[in-house]
Amino acid sequence: MRNFHTHVLQALVPLLLLSVFPHSGLGQILFQGFNWESWKQQGGWYNLLKTQVADIAASGATHVWLPPASHSVSEQGYLPGRLYDLNVSKYGDQAGLKSLIQAFHNQGIKCIADIVINHRTAEKQDSRGIYCIFEGGTPDTRLDWGPHMICSDDTTYSDGTGNPDTGAGYPPAPDIDHLNPRVQQELSDWLNWLKTDIGFDGWRFDFAKGYSAAMAKIYLEKTVPSFAVSEIWSSLAYDGDGKLSYNQDGNRQELVNWVNGVGGKATAFDFTTKGILQAAVQGELWRLIDVNGKAPGLIGWLPGNAVTFVDNHDTGSTQKLWPFPSDKVMQGYAYIVTHPGIPSIFYDHIFLWGLKDEISKLAAIRTRNGINPSSNLRIIAHDSDLYMAAIDEKIIAKIGSRYDVGNLVPSNFKLATSGNNYAVWEKM
Ligand SMILES: *[C@@H]1O[C@H](CO)[C@@H](O)[C@H](O)[C@H]1NC(C)=O
Repeated sequence: MRNFHTHVLQALVPLLLLSVFPHSGLGQILFQGFNWESWKQQGGWYNLLKTQVADIAASGATHVWLPPASHSVSEQGYLPGRLYDLNVSKYGDQAGLKSLIQAFHNQGIKCIADIVINHRTAEKQDSRGIYCIFEGGTPDTRLDWGPHMICSDDTTYSDGTGNPDTGAGYPPAPDIDHLNPRVQQELSDWLNWLKTDIGFDGWRFDFAKGYSAAMAKIYLEKTVPSFAVSEIWSSLAYDGDGKLSYNQDGNRQELVNWVNGVGGKATAFDFTTKGILQAAVQGELWRLIDVNGKAPGLIGWLPGNAVTFVDNHDTGSTQKLWPFPSDKVMQGYAYIVTHPGIPSIFYDHIFLWGLKDEISKLAAIRTRNGINPSSNLRIIAHDSDLYMAAIDEKIIAKIGSRYDVGNLVPSNFKLATSGNNYAVWEKM
């Protein structure tokens, strides 16, 4: 019996550790599987993506983020109405989505649903002619809501009679009252349906600034996703002269607060790292270290809860709301794919920009050296034209225009990959 218990314990301890620290020891790379134009794809986006699953797996991705799948007033899916109706999306129908998810699962890749629950588009007008009657997309009454589920301080739909909003308002559609227990239960049921019936493994929370972390925590606890990431589009600080400030701690604190608010059980996109990195690659690489010698973005404080990225469907693609300097995108990847945090790779860079080979090489270096979200970072150089760092003392990454790095690379390291203004060495 004693032996039996020891064995059970030995088997259980790693499992327990994994469930408490879902990211420890696990290399994870998130692939964003769409852009702003994907809904226009002839023959359907799901069908196209299915032909690219092998390439996505080869890029090192462990997770793929798919676009919002429900019925939506906007083509891209971010103004959803009938949440259970996955058959009228411009990306494809429910059967096509399930088949795509199955294809990713066959390659060991988990699928992340884009969850738009801050706001919702109403289906019908009430007796006063106001659009505030919602339909769930089921024959029964699930998610059939009225004004009582709209925040009372919603600026666009002043007929809302629910609680005041727990987060930022969203003018284009009614803001949902997440304090309402029926809202919490029915949205959780829908999320669990996305898991059990459709096959999704986790969530990307759209516009998570729109409801409090305490609300997100409820959905996380009721659905237990294997991975979750929130879009908290934090700002950056600028000096009086309009230049990006060196210290961005106030903004990364906003991300930390959200992670802490959900009990540490989810990750946030590292908007702070993106903002600093895209300024740094323009001859200001001194920005890539904070006053305590750590990385200046969320990865410097909570690397296991930070999802780093270079661009996404909003910042890049055709919207270009805040694009990374296009000629320096590979320096961005050389930083995020070698560093702590969970790097994400954008569809366009692999399939439209021709960077598949370069990014895949970086990802392979990360994977074979066991670099993980909480890997140790030691910054070696941070000058205007040179940034260098050792990660877990196993690899050394360099970005910047300075070519001669002198004796900064020890002789027991060999070049693993290099490109325009970046290089990575591996310990022999
Ligand atoms: C969508 O189509 C599937 C068949 O692929 C069907 O089972 C499901 O009920 C449909 N959903 C709606 C809301 O019509």
